[in-house]
Formats: sequence, structure tokens, C-alpha cells
Amino acid sequence: MSAHAATPLPSEVPLKISYARYDAAQEPKQLEAIRQLISSDLSEPYSIYVYRYFLYQWGNLCYMAMDGEQIIGVVVSKLEEHRNGVMRGYIAMLAVKEQYRGKGIATKLVQMAIDAMIFGDADEVALETEITNTAAIKLYERLGFLRSKRLHRYYLNGNSAFRLLLPLKSQGLLHEHEEHECGEDDGHDHGHDHGHGHGHDHAGEECGGHGGHGHGHEH
Ligand SMILES: CC(C)(COP(=O)(O)OP(=O)(O)OC[C@H]1O[C@@H](n2cnc3c(N)ncnc32)[C@H](O)[C@@H]1OP(=O)(O)O)[C@@H](O)C(=O)NCCC(=O)NCCS
Repeated sequence: MSAHAATPLPSEVPLKISYARYDAAQEPKQLEAIRQLISSDLSEPYSIYVYRYFLYQWGNLCYMAMDGEQIIGVVVSKLEEHRNGVMRGYIAMLAVKEQYRGKGIATKLVQMAIDAMIFGDADEVALETEITNTAAIKLYERLGFLRSKRLHRYYLNGNSAFRLLLPLKSQGLLHEHEEHECGEDDGHDHGHDHGHGHGHDHAGEECGGHGGHGHGHEH
């Protein structure tokens, strides 16, 4: 969470938020703005390589909320084959600027990412979030995500995470039931969502929020 108190937006001004997909042609401007937005919610910034890892390969799964020219919300995701040929979407980062929260912006961004994953034939969507991140957990559960695992001491700050899973097809549901159902994980599970290059550890698991870092930032 940002250490700075947010200046409330004037309530009499109706919000005109537009939504856009990440545009690789705008990289110099957009990547830096996305990075700043996300890093202001975490106590340490992620490496630029983590952002590039996601945006170079899955820019089509990154959506931004804009107030005019300003990026005020973002979701960063990927979609790739998981175990047994299951196509798993993964929500890596989600943040909305503090003054703009509570207006449904994150919900809209996540829905857009999920729709793009469905278009890419995803079987399921997964993510991790700190067990103390009530806002994120509520948001995802309202969208139909289920708690599939508890990952003990998952984050570098020592906090545990929930893995949340949204089954999109019946075999996705079956698949996760076969794995673990709401089990307590031993914390040694961080490797399997990390197919990525550049020698970056754990760039696949980012959704820390509130100072949790999902092991993605030390490169
Ligand atoms: C989590 C976060 C993205 C939510 O963004 P948002 O735009 O405010 O979310 P929405 O307005 O779409 O909220 C949807 C639902 O989430 C839940 N929610 C959102 N903020 C909440 C809060 N502070 N406390 C409890 N529930 C909350 C509510 O159920 C809400 O629906 P409701 O307002 O009808 O009750 C935002 O708080 C944020 O950027 N946090 C810091 C980064 C972070 O934690 N990211 C998630 C990492 S997994």
C-alpha cells in the first residue's frame, strides 16, 4: 500500500474512465506509467524485466483504466499451458490508484482480462493474493474465484497467500480438484508457474498487493 494518504477526488465531478488494452507501440510511455502505478502499492519495486516478461509476451492480456491520458488502473496477466495441457490464465498484477478505488474499476479490468483469456481458450484462471488482502479476495470471490490452496509463507515478507482459481470449463474444475482442494501448501510450490526467460526467478507470480512481493522482484 502507498504510504501517502490519497487526495479524494471531487465528488461533484463525474468520473469518465476509459479502458484500453496495452499498446506495445506506446511502450516507452505506458510501461513506465504501469510500473509507477504498481510500484506505489508495493514497498519495493519490481524489476523492469518482470514487466517486460509479461508485456512482451502477453500485452494482449494487459488492460489499463485511464482518466484522460493518465493510467489509473492496470491488470497484467499471462496465458500458457499448465499441467496436463490445461490452458491456465494467470493474473500477475492488479492495482488501482488509491483515489479511484471502490468504483468498480478493478472489477472491470479483471473482467476484461478474463474475457481475453476466454478468447484465447483458457480452461481456468489462477492468481495468488496475500491472505490479509481483504479487498482483493472479496473482489475475486465476487467474480467466482474459489480458494484452492493456502501457500504458507509465500511472500518475502513472511505472509501467506491464497491461490484463487476460476474454473472456466469443466475439466479445469476437475484438474484442480485432483491437485489439492483448499489444502495447506508447504510453500515449495513456487516453481510451477514460472516459465520465463532472462534468468528471472519467479517472474510469474506477482500479485502481492499490500507490500507482498510474490518473489518476483529480485533480479
Ligand atoms: C484490490 C484493488 C485492486 C481493488 O480495486 P477497486 O477498483 O477498488 O475494486 P472494485 O471497486 O472493483 O471493487 C470490487 C469489490 O471488491 C471489494 N473491495 C474493494 N475494495 C475493498 C476494500 N477496501 N475492503 C473490502 N472490500 C473491498 C468489494 O467487494 C467491492 O465491491 P463493492 O464495492 O460492491 O462492495 C485495489 O484496492 C488496489 O489497487 N489495492 C492495492 C494493490 C492490490 O492489493 N492488488 C491486488 C493484488 S492480488
